[in-house]
Amino acid sequence: MPTLPPIAPDLLCWFRQNARTLPFRQDPTPYHIWVSEIMLQQTRVAAALEYYDRWMKALPTIQDLADCPEEKLHKLWEGLGYYSRVRNLQKAARLVCEEYGGQLPGDYQKLLALPGIGEYTAGAIGSIAFGLPVPAVDGNVLRVFSRLYNDDRDITDPKVKKAFTVWVKEHQPADAPGPYNEALMELGALVCLPNGEPLCDACPLAHLCRARAAGTWRELPVKKAAKARRIQPVTVLLVESEAGFLIQKRPAKGLLAGLWQPLLFEEALSWEKAAGRLANLGLSVQQGQALPPAKHIFSHIEWHMSGWRASAPALPLPEGYVWASGEQLASEYALPGAFKAYKPLMGG
Ligand code: ADE
Ligand code: SF4
Repeated sequence: MPTLPPIAPDLLCWFRQNARTLPFRQDPTPYHIWVSEIMLQQTRVAAALEYYDRWMKALPTIQDLADCPEEKLHKLWEGLGYYSRVRNLQKAARLVCEEYGGQLPGDYQKLLALPGIGEYTAGAIGSIAFGLPVPAVDGNVLRVFSRLYNDDRDITDPKVKKAFTVWVKEHQPADAPGPYNEALMELGALVCLPNGEPLCDACPLAHLCRARAAGTWRELPVKKAAKARRIQPVTVLLVESEAGFLIQKRPAKGLLAGLWQPLLFEEALSWEKAAGRLANLGLSVQQGQALPPAKHIFSHIEWHMSGWRASAPALPLPEGYVWASGEQLASEYALPGAFKAYKPLMGG
């Protein structure tokens, strides 16, 4: 495929006039760019901003992140999902403190070697915070290039991603690698939209876009369908006593590792069976009241939840289970977004 004429001049001009004012753009330190880019994976900018501001107030330096207790860290991430991202942030922060004196290294390979930092994130930090001439190719950038080049190859194929990355690098100007990468992402987020019509009339690259010329933008990018998710029935028990709601800590490995949840069983239980599980914890309860069913979608699994709310005496609980008051649920224990439907019933 013959290469396109240069895209950078028009793209950068558009970016200077249309870039959103975002806190990490106001003060683009390596740490700020790092945390923002991890938050922005799988999360829209508008939703991430509140988290970002709260995070930077609580943990203004990489050393603060390295030293942060687990519960506080989970609380700062509560509702963002993909919690391995925040555990990797902390693992990497600890390494950065041990090996680089608490400052991220301005070297692509060293960034790439840190936990949770892949090619995209190393490219974003390297180019935006350090001015390195490296690409940062996310879903936005793949979509823009599939359309600019009118290329209908499957963007989930690593070989195709590599080929697109070569084009991204060919167009990258040596004097503005970071603004160029961010401008491509911004164009994908604001103009060359997914799911629906791109705003080609507002696009600074419309005059050279091959999908626009061919009328094929609707079919691009091509993505192989994702594998179907496994459906997991889940029984949730909202058990309340005078001391608060019964919550339990999830195992240290696997889905939602180390996070707190209402009493939960990853199977469909009848009320009789559920009451039996409560008896195993030393709690005898009256017939509960059915909870409204709710769903939560993880990347590979779908939880189909139902269950009961019930009252119980505030008896001592085994290790890993606690009675948490409304106040403690608000300030101490991170309950993942999977329980959003039930939080209002727990005073949240
Ligand atoms: N999405 C992820 N990172 C971004 C950035 N730096 N600018 C705009 N959108 C983004
Ligand atoms: Fe996307 Fe339209 Fe711009 Fe082409 S002209 S890059 S399809 S917004």
